[in-house]
Amino acid sequence: MHMRKKKWARPELDACPYFIPDPSLYRNRWQTLFPAIQPLHVEFGCGKGVSTAQMIAQELQYNFVAMDISPDVLGDARRNLEQAASPVTHAFLSRCDLEHAADFFGPEDRVERIILSFCNPWPKRRHEKRRLTHPRQLMQYRTFLDTQGEVYFKTDDDTLWDDSQVYFYVCGFMPVFRTDHLHASGFSPNYVSEHEARYLQEGKHIHFGIYRKAHLPMDLDPLTWQQPNRSDLPPDLFGPF
Ligand SMILES: C[S@@+](CC[C@H](N)C(=O)[O-])C[C@H]1O[C@@H](n2cnc3c(N)ncnc32)[C@H](O)[C@@H]1O
Repeated sequence: MHMRKKKWARPELDACPYFIPDPSLYRNRWQTLFPAIQPLHVEFGCGKGVSTAQMIAQELQYNFVAMDISPDVLGDARRNLEQAASPVTHAFLSRCDLEHAADFFGPEDRVERIILSFCNPWPKRRHEKRRLTHPRQLMQYRTFLDTQGEVYFKTDDDTLWDDSQVYFYVCGFMPVFRTDHLHASGFSPNYVSEHEARYLQEGKHIHFGIYRKAHLPMDLDPLTWQQPNRSDLPPDLFGPF
């Protein structure tokens, strides 16, 4: 969807004490920014931060970094955080292209949770590698996720969901919770994002999974990796869940 440029977004972000314009400067030392060392949770593709703001207001026991590539949506995210969680003490916003996530986080950051809510589905096969769950990205996440660190992944998109089960499997992430109907699953706490609210209104079911970093089952070069045939994969990889 095309968004009109928001003239106010960049100046507001420039003046924001918890906006980090160059996240590569904090690689391996994010914890030094926070008043207290607490488990680090990061949200990738936070958009307007609708769910981020609720989460940050509720979960004072974690440190947060929420990132997006678009300064316009980050402008909205800043306003939403101000409204829900002011003063913002245990969260930072930052702008970056998460196809290069390993440039912004390192092993010393020991990220405990990565949150991916409604990342772009990139439906054309030739664009698949841009998905934030693609092995190109998951293999980077492995380098900075803590032992047993987890990825929380929500989507309404059936193809992205099915393909992502394969991505998590080949990249050594073990599913610890999966549902095809998040809002009937009883899972809590769930923070409803902007896109989630829209899909709920349309009556769509939301897929949700938690994937824990585990042993890497095979050698994998993320740059040359191709989807295997479904018949060569374990049948329990796919739902219904
Ligand atoms: C469909 S929106 C979802 C926003 C929000 N998480 C939600 O659930 O409402 C996807 C977001 O991911 C961001 N995004 C897409 N590709 C990205 C990338 N390579 N790096 C950082 N952000 C990205 C987009 O700018 C957009 O804000």
